[in-house]
Amino acid sequence: MNVLGISGIFGHDAAACLSMDGKIIAFAEEERFSRKRFSFGDYPIKATLYCLQEAKIDISAIDILAVSINPELDREAELFQDYGERFLMELGIVEEDWPIIEYWDHHLCHAASSYYSSGYKQAISIVLDGNGERNATSIFVCEKGEILEMESRDISQSLGHFYKSVCMYNGLGRYSEGKLMGLAAYGDPIYKFSPIEINEDYGYFINLGRANHYLPQEYRYKQIQNEWLDWLEKNYGEENLTKQTWSRMNGISTEVHFSEKYKNLAASAQEILNQMIISIIRYAINKYQIKNICISGGVGLNCSTNGYLTEQNITDLYIIPVANDAGGALGACYLSSREHNVLPQQLDTVYLGPDFTDQQIIDLLDTKKIPYQYINNVEEFAAKKIALGKIIGWFQGRMEMGPRALGNRSIVALPNSIEIRDKVNIIKGRESWRPLSPSIIEEDIKRFVDFPSKFMLRGLHVKDLYKKDILGAVHVDGTARVQTVSREDNEKYYKLLEQVKKETGVGAVLNTSFNIGGEPLVCNPRDAIKTFYDSELDYLIMGNIVLSKSEKLQ
Ligand SMILES: [Fe+2]
Repeated sequence: MNVLGISGIFGHDAAACLSMDGKIIAFAEEERFSRKRFSFGDYPIKATLYCLQEAKIDISAIDILAVSINPELDREAELFQDYGERFLMELGIVEEDWPIIEYWDHHLCHAASSYYSSGYKQAISIVLDGNGERNATSIFVCEKGEILEMESRDISQSLGHFYKSVCMYNGLGRYSEGKLMGLAAYGDPIYKFSPIEINEDYGYFINLGRANHYLPQEYRYKQIQNEWLDWLEKNYGEENLTKQTWSRMNGISTEVHFSEKYKNLAASAQEILNQMIISIIRYAINKYQIKNICISGGVGLNCSTNGYLTEQNITDLYIIPVANDAGGALGACYLSSREHNVLPQQLDTVYLGPDFTDQQIIDLLDTKKIPYQYINNVEEFAAKKIALGKIIGWFQGRMEMGPRALGNRSIVALPNSIEIRDKVNIIKGRESWRPLSPSIIEEDIKRFVDFPSKFMLRGLHVKDLYKKDILGAVHVDGTARVQTVSREDNEKYYKLLEQVKKETGVGAVLNTSFNIGGEPLVCNPRDAIKTFYDSELDYLIMGNIVLSKSEKLQ
């Protein structure tokens, strides 16, 4: 049975996912192909075409189109009604050829994406996001392949909208939760959010007055964000209006251009978010007597919270690397498979996007008359350059799913140097106060942190003894969002780290996503070449092919 899952219904994070007999064959976000970050307003057309091409099938071979929303539950239903049908028309498929279309509740899709991919038999799957059709936080109990919604909380309880509101108040903009998380480490959590109550019997409760009594027509994300912005202004004065000033300074200055107030507010928002989430997890563990926890929803991408949970002993914790709404495509795919008695299989890899052969890359370079060199031991070559302080665009194999670069579309460099970190931030046009992350070879992970972390989703405290070895990837609060790299998960990246270890004594590199200026992650060799020449990267390595701007390669 072939199932195509799609997301993007809320106007962002469009993605497509293809499963064949319960096994995920391909997954990709639309933004990677359209080059439009978050793919606002787009259907996942190009992502779908890629999935079909990867599986070498035609759309006629799709049995079910699984859509990650339930229009019947949504208060903006007219907008989302017939999304699947409209998507198929957009694809150019005539009605007679349509597959069966199945709609699934948004939070159920999140919960399924995390539970089925985790491999846990029994788990609590907790969804933490802005909001789905109606709900903001949901708890599902999952057992032997069945998923049951136990409770869900309405938009007044939204952790995503609370955090986003503080982002906007701090002048960081609407889609910058990662920046607020980075900023939080510079402040002290001295501010209180009086509407929030941490409660053992309930996890947490937010009493935002009017928001707790919304009429259906008021049930909008902007409405709840405005309630929070009003509350913040009333209690802490005017929002930060200086964002234009600091955004022009992206990547140039090493100072943090925020007053103490905004740094402290960021720290306070992060702290209360951590407390709310650990409280609801403990509440759920207690109530349902299950210790395995799966997390999904955009708030699941908060590495500081995930690191905090891990270090507070919530260790049986799985966070789907595509916790944002793009993951809905994966969840919908799983749910339709299950509905038709095909058991979803655990996700055995996150490298589910397009790949390109060396010959395809060479053909492109020859056509464009771009000089290159084919090198057999490209890992050794790269490691020697990294050891010399060079910064490399590393483009290998199938593109990773989710917003974190996991070694196939990465910029890599020496991890122990603050100067190189700053240089990488400048190359990327990224604020210099934001942290970069280390990829660490599996055998050495315990030297640096106490817990493994495959998907770069946990900010963990780095041990003092070895901190200097990855100094450029340690944030000011002493944490790093590590990626543990095993041979089994990514052989080529693992070999690179082995070679780096040979050169430097430390099996680690600085790893950040291969993109510049806030663009989506590079997807194909064309994007990689363009980004290489638009930036100050020293080398581009695609498969076994090396490009250099300064060196005449032999
Ligand atoms: Fe969501």
